[in-house]
Amino acid sequence: MSRRILFVSSEVYPFAKTGGLADVSHSLPRALNAIYNVEVVMPLYRSIDKEKYNISPWGKPFDLLMGGVSYPLQFHSCTFEGIKYLFIYTPCLCDREFLYGTHEAGYEDNAIRFGLFSWAIMLLLKGEHYDIVHLNDWQSALVALLVNEESLISTKTIFTIHNLAYQGVFEHSVLKFIGIDERYFTMDALEFYNKVNFIKAGIAYAQSVTTVSPTYAKEILSHKYGCGLEGFLELHSYKLRGILNGIDAEHFSPVSDTALVATYNSVKGKRVSKSAFLKHIKLKGVTKPLFVFIGRFAEQKGMDLLIESLDKIAHMDCNIALLGEGANHFHEELTLLSQRHKNIHLTIKYDEAFAHQMYAASDFLLMPSLFEPCGLNQMIAFAYGSIPIVHHVGGLADTVKRFDGYDAASSYGYGVLFNTPKSRSFVGAVQKALDLYSDKKLFEEIANHNMKCDFSWTKSAKIYSDLYEKLLK
Ligand code: GLC
Repeated sequence: MSRRILFVSSEVYPFAKTGGLADVSHSLPRALNAIYNVEVVMPLYRSIDKEKYNISPWGKPFDLLMGGVSYPLQFHSCTFEGIKYLFIYTPCLCDREFLYGTHEAGYEDNAIRFGLFSWAIMLLLKGEHYDIVHLNDWQSALVALLVNEESLISTKTIFTIHNLAYQGVFEHSVLKFIGIDERYFTMDALEFYNKVNFIKAGIAYAQSVTTVSPTYAKEILSHKYGCGLEGFLELHSYKLRGILNGIDAEHFSPVSDTALVATYNSVKGKRVSKSAFLKHIKLKGVTKPLFVFIGRFAEQKGMDLLIESLDKIAHMDCNIALLGEGANHFHEELTLLSQRHKNIHLTIKYDEAFAHQMYAASDFLLMPSLFEPCGLNQMIAFAYGSIPIVHHVGGLADTVKRFDGYDAASSYGYGVLFNTPKSRSFVGAVQKALDLYSDKKLFEEIANHNMKCDFSWTKSAKIYSDLYEKLLK
């Protein structure tokens, strides 16, 4: 009998997505399902299309008691791509316009919403036996504490940090509403500058803590990247390790991608996509390099650096396309930039198919992130033959090698790196990229090399499974 794993995430592609967590929560369980019996559980947000995915009630509705208040709850389920998905529906958690709130502020009752999510997971763990429960980010971190309290549950817990900048910090007063005893309000448990910090529960009580790249695992022990938790993490560092994310090699493949105007298997084949894309966004110059930015318009992604640098980059002989959404002030600044420069095109939305077309059309991907736990876009760019220009930090440092050291025999992906998150350094990297672009032979050779590199889950899923086995010994 293969082991049973419950994978817990607050967002899973294609059901609901705000960032990379959703992609990983889709692709990692799929990879692990080859070895284990994996089930994935998430909230049944209002925005999820129940009919499309055949999601139906599972068991009877009931009331969940938390902090002396009862909340109506109904589990749902469906099978999708060979995986069983469980969904938790309770109005307070699910009936909202957004998953967590706006880009400016989270919902005020997020502690209650994800407290409910965690207690509901406990019901699943009590109802049936799971060997491992794999928790992700602060939204499910409390489960580690709750399992630890429940001596009857033998399930082992693993907690993955996808981004330490989001910790789930709330007023002290929420404790009673989420049914957590006051004795947990201490430094070695949930207390954090006189507030309650959810992510601390995952770090303190999970049997194993992972994060999404080896470099980020080291960085978060430092003051610069530790977001105030470096000391706490250091204390628990014996069980902390970095495991690099992978991408879904089937979903991100220019050979079979149905979003593209023409599929391709080498960099020459990108031309059709590039012309079609430029035409679509009304930019001219197929022979000029096309730089793209795809992702959340957030500080973490280096938006200030990007905005500051774009005026200079736009004066170079190139085209620039930006896709994403985020904080309003970034929308405003980017809009002004795109009005100032005819060669900058801005699209404010989240659009998966459009993103795929951009990877296919582009020559370079801009990723000036201030910090990056792993980053998936640089790996997707490799697969589509777009060369990434990245800040040498976190997962970017683990996945992108300097093109000046290009070695055809290696299995690494190559790109352009810069060391300091300052405009001079970033613009310098873009200049280097232009030089590379003008050496057509080398540019194409590197892009073709990158396209063949393996960034799938094969290696990392094996590392996770070794970790599971170790916990179960
Ligand atoms: C978060 C991180 C990103 C990582 C993703 C998946 O979105 O910011 O770096 O790739 O989670 O783990």
